[in-house]
Amino acid sequence: MPDITTGNILIIVSGQDINQPGMNVAFDCALATENMYIAAQSLGLGAHIYMGLVSGVNSRKQDLGISDGYSVITALRIGNVDAGVDVISSASPRNSMESVVNYK
Ligand SMILES: Cc1cc2nc3c(=O)[nH]c(=O)nc-3n(C[C@H](O)[C@H](O)[C@H](O)COP(=O)(O)O)c2cc1C
Repeated sequence: MPDITTGNILIIVSGQDINQPGMNVAFDCALATENMYIAAQSLGLGAHIYMGLVSGVNSRKQDLGISDGYSVITALRIGNVDAGVDVISSASPRNSMESVVNYK
């Protein structure tokens, strides 16, 4: 895992507390988070998604300016990695496709 060394920003992704057929706010927020993650990496920046922060951040919504009626879904940290580090190829090893995909 490439370490993010400087220039850290933390993006808190929140979604409206609505429950309507055909809508999935958490899914939309997850997609937005993943898109920002991929965009950051394509720019050579380091990025990490943090779900573990969510409950703690949700209890501090007022401090963070998150409106009533919205809940924190994900957190994304973006920053610089050491010069010369390739954030894609230096990522931690992935499981093989064969071990995670079932073909029927
Ligand atoms: C949905 C999701 C939630 C994650 N939550 C956490 C988390 O709460 N804490 C954490 O240290 N890493 C978390 N990670 C892992 C980091 O974002 C990152 O993927 C991990 O550090 C490995 O990075 P690398 O595979 O690029 O080396 C999460 C990843 C995903 C996809």
